[in-house]
Amino acid sequence: MRMSPNAPDGQVDLDSVDLFDPFLHSEGHPHAVWRALRAEAPVHRQQLPDGRQFWSVTRYADACRVLRDHEDFTSERGTLLSALDVGDPAGGKMMAASDPPHHTMLRESLNRVLSARAVNARRNTLLKPVDRLVEPLLNGESTDLAVLAADFPMDFIGTFMGLPESDWPRLTKLTTMAVAPHDPAFQEGSAPLTLVTAHHELFEYFSEQLAARDGTPTDDLIGHLMQTRIDGKPLDHESIVYNCYSLILGANVTTPHTVTGLVQALMDHPDAYRAVVADPSLVAGCVEEGLRWTSPASHFMRYATQDVRLSDSTVKAGSALAVWLGSANRDEDVFADPYTFDITRRPNRHIAFGFGPHYCVGAALARLSLRMLLERVCALVERIEPAGEVRHLASNFVAGVTSMPVRGVPRDGAHPARLS
Ligand code: HEM
Repeated sequence: MRMSPNAPDGQVDLDSVDLFDPFLHSEGHPHAVWRALRAEAPVHRQQLPDGRQFWSVTRYADACRVLRDHEDFTSERGTLLSALDVGDPAGGKMMAASDPPHHTMLRESLNRVLSARAVNARRNTLLKPVDRLVEPLLNGESTDLAVLAADFPMDFIGTFMGLPESDWPRLTKLTTMAVAPHDPAFQEGSAPLTLVTAHHELFEYFSEQLAARDGTPTDDLIGHLMQTRIDGKPLDHESIVYNCYSLILGANVTTPHTVTGLVQALMDHPDAYRAVVADPSLVAGCVEEGLRWTSPASHFMRYATQDVRLSDSTVKAGSALAVWLGSANRDEDVFADPYTFDITRRPNRHIAFGFGPHYCVGAALARLSLRMLLERVCALVERIEPAGEVRHLASNFVAGVTSMPVRGVPRDGAHPARLS
């Protein structure tokens, strides 16, 4: 997705806005649409040709209200537009598609292994993935950062989940197929077939992984789910499989696009890159601005459980609402100069990781991995230059790229062979 609102003609016709269309997000200017909606129709109803409808929520305050209030807005009927009005078989089983109290109990359990303290204790797991990504930036040749970044989270979540490394490349592809089935770069047959294949293979895969453990929990996230007790009872096989799916998807489809979007922003703002290099204490703020700037999880959905007023609209019970996080993170009522990439932005209360009870459970892991990566890049790479055309991902769920050729210019003495 393009990070700027500068549509060529500058005009947005609100009657024909189609935020459902995956190609608006790859070829169009969603930021221009969101800006117009925030100003003129902050809670905006869209009807699809097949009659299904959803509301788009674009202002920060409304977004936080919807995400925070699980009583008025449930997650159990599904949270992605791709499954609008079709129901969610994982509802009440997968953490992301559960409401309290089930959600709270599952969440407390996973928090124990994904808290900042817990992931910091395992930070060594991140060293190899970081070096694998940085290495091709040190040989002076052109490389596709989108491809490198796509492997990055798989490289650590694979270890955290105890999955064999030989399976990682296929898992990386399947997770992108699940969120961008319309993108030709990842299609296997038609879009519906691509989606079905991705879901089927991923669920089969985790089912087999679980069966292979034969009831004996391993020292990894899958083992942790096997030992989790809700009201004294273990999770059933299906629930563990759904939550494995959610963990791998959560990591794989988001993190890469903050990497590429942040690098793009730093190429566009060489002063900012020089500032972080000169002062490593700016790394954390730079990552936060990268998260706000890229907002890779573009929307999450909820269904209203009763009639609710939001801004000046009434949303009827049962209606679907898509909360556009990328829009909330550019809300001019909350962020000064929202279209300026500012690594010293304070405060920076972005909601790229969501808000309220479902706030990303992997946020500490994502932050640590991004900080370690940026620190390593700053230490070894003098600058990164564009080396070809950027291609954007066709997905209404993930804001990202499929191709981003770049060339790294290493610092004196930084050489791939010295990394291992
Ligand atoms: C830059 C990286 C990431 C971004 C931008 C991101 C974004 C988000 C957002 C916006 C939500 C809220 C969903 C909702 O409100 O319905 C969420 C939830 C979640 N994320 Fe992440 N995520 C990232 C990394 C990760 C990682 C590394 C993992 C795996 C360890 C992960 C796993 C999850 C899970 C399981 C949930 C559901 C949490 C719940 O329902 O309580 N995410 N993420």
